[in-house]
Amino acid sequence: MENSDIDFTDSIPEFYDTYLAPLIFGEFAEDLAKRVMVESPKTILETAAGTGVVTRVLAPQISPDVKYVVTDLEQEMLDFAQNKQPEQANVIWQLADAQDLPFDDASFDAVICQLGFMFFPDKIKAAAEAKRVLKPGGEFIFNVWDRLENNVFADLVSQAAAKIFPDDPPLFLERIPFGYYDNDAMRKTLQDGGFKHIIIQDKLAVSTAGSALHVAMAFTHGTPLRNEIEARDPDGLQKVALAAVNLIEDYLGKGEISAQIQGFVITAS
Ligand SMILES: C[S@@+](CC[C@H](N)C(=O)[O-])C[C@H]1O[C@@H](n2cnc3c(N)ncnc32)[C@H](O)[C@@H]1O
Repeated sequence: MENSDIDFTDSIPEFYDTYLAPLIFGEFAEDLAKRVMVESPKTILETAAGTGVVTRVLAPQISPDVKYVVTDLEQEMLDFAQNKQPEQANVIWQLADAQDLPFDDASFDAVICQLGFMFFPDKIKAAAEAKRVLKPGGEFIFNVWDRLENNVFADLVSQAAAKIFPDDPPLFLERIPFGYYDNDAMRKTLQDGGFKHIIIQDKLAVSTAGSALHVAMAFTHGTPLRNEIEARDPDGLQKVALAAVNLIEDYLGKGEISAQIQGFVITAS
């Protein structure tokens, strides 16, 4: 993993939340919130909360006696998330590395993480930390993307980037967000982190965008793929975005387009 892979700063949060979140994160967030609420937890920890896609769904559903601690590695992401949400006394915002959580043992009923686990360099440590801060019987519920080939929009943008930089393709999308889908490896990581009961379920959805440009902007400007492209060519972002628009229109047509998105939801206890 490279440093630029987890760099969600500069204007990335804005593009992420405007273009990428509505495109592929909404339905997964609804699903995660529903799964947490079924257990009626009194204390919830969210890691890698990003711009607060899940937080905005979950916070209005919890009762005032529930404590919901929302964390991320990047202050910029947390600030963005906090500013997008009405103030709520029982929602606490805190900077935290998911691999080294600043919380006591056995302090939460549920730990949740939406599409963030792939970004943790030491996944066993992240699993062990989730396990450590969970109360006995508590659940770690998180989701990850399936491989790039099963996530058409992301795949097409990655192919467009490879067309612009054929000798040194930027592989961020397939390396990190769409690079952690091996169910056996996930099980092993969670077991090594101390979890005994692990359930992995498929999650499929259809994503719809108003245009190919929306999809191209989402992945080129709203993810750390941007860092990889700009490191190769300061003008590369526009070139890749344009190549992505052309490729997406070739495959899916002009105007409103839809494509499959696919991931896994993991419950570990
Ligand atoms: C793809 S975003 C997902 C954000 C959010 N959960 C969502 O659904 O939109 C990945 C997030 O992981 C965060 N992140 C990366 N490494 C982290 C770490 N070690 N601990 C906590 N957060 C981390 C990044 O700052 C970024 O906000």
